[in-house]
Amino acid sequence: MTERKKVLVTSALPGGRLPELEERCDMTVWQGEGPMPADTLRDQLADCSGLVCTLINRVDRQLLDAAPNLQFVSSMSVGVDHIDLPLLTERGIPVGHTPGVLVDTTADTAFALLLAAARRVAEADRFVRAGLWRPENPWSPDFFVGKDVSGATLGIIGLGEIGQAVARRAEGFGMRILAWNRSPREVPGVQMVSLEELLLRSDFVSVNVALTAETRNLLDAEHIGMMKPGSVLVNTARGGIVDEAALAEALDSGAVYAAGFDVFEQEPLSTDNPLLAHERVVLAPHIGSATTLTRARMAALAIDNALAALDGERMPHCANRSVYDI
Ligand code: GLV
Repeated sequence: MTERKKVLVTSALPGGRLPELEERCDMTVWQGEGPMPADTLRDQLADCSGLVCTLINRVDRQLLDAAPNLQFVSSMSVGVDHIDLPLLTERGIPVGHTPGVLVDTTADTAFALLLAAARRVAEADRFVRAGLWRPENPWSPDFFVGKDVSGATLGIIGLGEIGQAVARRAEGFGMRILAWNRSPREVPGVQMVSLEELLLRSDFVSVNVALTAETRNLLDAEHIGMMKPGSVLVNTARGGIVDEAALAEALDSGAVYAAGFDVFEQEPLSTDNPLLAHERVVLAPHIGSATTLTRARMAALAIDNALAALDGERMPHCANRSVYDI
C-alpha cells in the first residue's frame, strides 16, 4: 500500500467537504485558538506534501525552505499575493485559488461601501446610537446630506470579473461607467479610458484590480491628487494598492469626499491608521466574500484543487498554470 500523503489545513474550512480530503490523505487541521502562528505552520509543514491555507498564511521562501516535500498549495482565496508565486512556480509547485465563486458577493460589498460612504450611513448610525438625534437636533434641510450615486460617473480600476460585476450594478443605478484595465477589455456600456482620465472624471472610483508588483501603490499621492474634487474612493481589492496616508491627507483637505475600504496595507488595521480618524471613511474588516454560501463555495474549490493535486492531476483553478507546461 502506498503511504498516504500528509496535508496540513490551516483553518477549519466551511461547507462540510473536509471529510472528502481526509479520506484521501493524512490530514491535519489547525485546531488551536486563533490563527495558526507562522512558526507552528513552519514546524507542522516540514514533512507535508500539501498545504491548504487562507490569505492570512504567508507562503514565502522561509516556509518553503522548511517544507522540502511540499508538492502543492491550495489557498481558499482568489488573491494569491500572500504567496510567493514566482518562487513556487520556479520550484514547480502548483498554487490553487478560488476565482469566480466570489465575484457577485465581492461586487455587492463594493456597492455596499460605495452607497454607505456616499450617503454617510455608518456616520448616521453612530450619530443615532450616540443619542445625538434629539429634538434640538432634528431633521433639517442640510441634515446628513451626502452625494447622489444615481446618475453619477463611476470609474472602475481593474475590469476583471469583479470589476465587471460592479459595472452591472452601476448600470442599475443609471451611472456612467468608465474603466481602466492593464490589458484592453471590451465590455458593453463601459468606456475604457486611461487611469488619469478615469481619476479626473469619476465621482466614484472602485478599485478592483489584483495586487501585483505592477499595481502596488498604483493609487499613490500623485494619482490621488488627480481625483475629481469631492469624489469617493472604494477599495475591495487589496491593501497596498492605495497609499492610505496620501488618501487620509486628501480626506483632510476635502479633496476626496469619502471612502469605503474593506482591505488595508496592514491587516488587521493598526490603531494608528490615519483612515480611522475620518468620520466619512466606512471601514470593514476584509469581508468582501463573507457570505455563508460564498465561503462554502470557496472552500469547495480549495478542496477540489487539493484533491486534484493529490491525484497527480492538474488543479482545476491554478494560479501558476505554467508549472504544468513542462
Ligand atoms: C479575498 O480577499 C480573496 O482573495 O479571496
